Amino acid sequence: MTQSKDPISGDADRLVLRRPDDWHVHLRDGAMLEAVANYTARQFARAIIMPNLAPPVTTAEAAEAYRARIMAAADEAYDFTPLMTCYLTDTLDAGEVERGFEAGVFTACKLYPANATTNSSHGVTDIANIYPVLEAMQRMGMPLLVHGEVTDKDIDIFDREAVFIERVLTKVVRDFPDLKIVFEHVTTDEAVAFVMASGANIAATITPHHLRINRNAIFEGGLRPHHYCLPVAKREKHRLALRRAATSGSPKFFLGTDTAPHAEAAKESACGCAGIFNAPFALESYAATFEEEGALDKLEAFASEHGPRFYGLPLNSAKVTLKKEEVVVPDHLGPADARLTPFLAGQTLGWKFFGGEA
Ligand code: DOR
Ligand code: ZN
Repeated sequence: MTQSKDPISGDADRLVLRRPDDWHVHLRDGAMLEAVANYTARQFARAIIMPNLAPPVTTAEAAEAYRARIMAAADEAYDFTPLMTCYLTDTLDAGEVERGFEAGVFTACKLYPANATTNSSHGVTDIANIYPVLEAMQRMGMPLLVHGEVTDKDIDIFDREAVFIERVLTKVVRDFPDLKIVFEHVTTDEAVAFVMASGANIAATITPHHLRINRNAIFEGGLRPHHYCLPVAKREKHRLALRRAATSGSPKFFLGTDTAPHAEAAKESACGCAGIFNAPFALESYAATFEEEGALDKLEAFASEHGPRFYGLPLNSAKVTLKKEEVVVPDHLGPADARLTPFLAGQTLGWKFFGGEA
């Protein structure tokens, strides 16, 4: 990474980074896919595409068709590559996962505990049900991506990640010691500690929003549906643990936005959907956090190196530039009939994204 004086104005700094990847994205389908695809494609070379469509992506054939729809929705000039995932269910055949992975269609499998979040009703009710699939994945070196929350109604929502570690993840790691696992969108210091204490085959993604907000943001002066996501933001001490992890330089932590667009009407409702739409200013948001932590020198590794190394994929050779320029996040984005509120709406960020080397 180079941080240098801008050659034109002579005063503003700029960051030139290897083009990053987003290791956790919800791009949806149909009109929503059309509305959101380019926000991700313009910043990221590749993205791990979540399979929680309705119905979920559970076959290589469905994943290939979905990949084609994503490619058609993204502007060709961005040269964007979607990496597809398979949604694990209680009855999924290990053979389908193996064939899909060997054919280069599936990059990873996603574990949603049943009913943990949006479109997860077909998820896994008991981890034992997917042991044959995990066996095959371990053998092939195929990563398991985990939504790490228990779903029991009697467990406090703020404790569901920590309890998942105790009850499920510890068991999976013990029974499949060589399985590559990405603990997605970690939100607690327990999750950070678990990942740090595990072997090199256990990593985690960290979102822009969990680095910037704690749970107070959901209730600031009233109910703030655009700060509601799952796993829900936790106490400040957890946010600080995430900041330390992301900026530590440890190869176990990498960028995954969990951008999860829902139309405003679906968010601002008596039963609002979980999900934060952060794709439009994702890299700017991470840069703000790394700058506040005095760790801009660690941003490129977190955004562009740790992820591909964990997945065993080549690093991108293209570059992107962030210039030290103010940018105001709009209040609304998207088409008039399906408006979206972006993360940090109305706020000013100190870094502006440019595609190639500006
Ligand atoms: O907040 C979330 N939104 N968390 C998830 O796990 C799913 C996602 C979505 O698909 O909307
Ligand atoms: Zn997600």
